[in-house]
Amino acid sequence: MLNRFACARFLMSGANLDDLPAGDRPEVAFAGRSNAGKSSALNRLCAQKGLARVSKTPGRTQLLNYFEIAEGWLVDLPGYGFAQVPRGVRDAWGELVTGYIQSRETLRGLVLVMDARHPLTPFDRQMLAWVAAQHLSCHVLVTKADKLRFGAMKKTLAEVKAAMPMLHAQATVQMFSSETSMGLDEARARILEMVVKED
Ligand code: GTP
Ligand code: MG
Repeated sequence: MLNRFACARFLMSGANLDDLPAGDRPEVAFAGRSNAGKSSALNRLCAQKGLARVSKTPGRTQLLNYFEIAEGWLVDLPGYGFAQVPRGVRDAWGELVTGYIQSRETLRGLVLVMDARHPLTPFDRQMLAWVAAQHLSCHVLVTKADKLRFGAMKKTLAEVKAAMPMLHAQATVQMFSSETSMGLDEARARILEMVVKED
């Protein structure tokens, strides 16, 4: 498949909703637990190693980072569930990300990234239900698939799929690995579909 993401380039970072670019392009945001692998997935999708900052330290991405592709924007969101941050910072995170998802009119869908070894955290479940309530499309990337054996991978995928009707009935789910590129074409196709879809 032609990689429409390869020409992605960094556009800007915002710490507040007021900082974000004027919303005249459709956008898809990457959300998920801190350290789940959001920034790595973005880099793999765009075939550019250093595009989004990756770190072993959870909580690395604290801003909304915008990347531009021909069809619109991809947004790397700060991760949630980072236990080591002070309460005040966590509350600020919640306000920023929930405010963004609720108010960003050009947001077409969410890519929810889960670590295949710890899928469907309580926060993931909450996020899915909340995103469904806003009638926002969602694609679940169960990433770090390379960390599981084949049997465990199949079981995890089946479990996550089985949970969807209760949480976000229209959400699509796939296995992914930023390490091995597993699921890359499927993820690119689904994300593009969300970016270009009409309201
Ligand atoms: P925050 O910015 O803190 O929210 O984290 P993030 O979700 O952006 O995670 P990030 O992409 O920075 O990855 C966290 C760690 O997981 C890094 O050490 C990555 O190298 C590793 N990692 C990410 N994706 C994969 C994967 O598919 N396979 C393996 N084996 N490691 C991965
Ligand atoms: Mg990140």
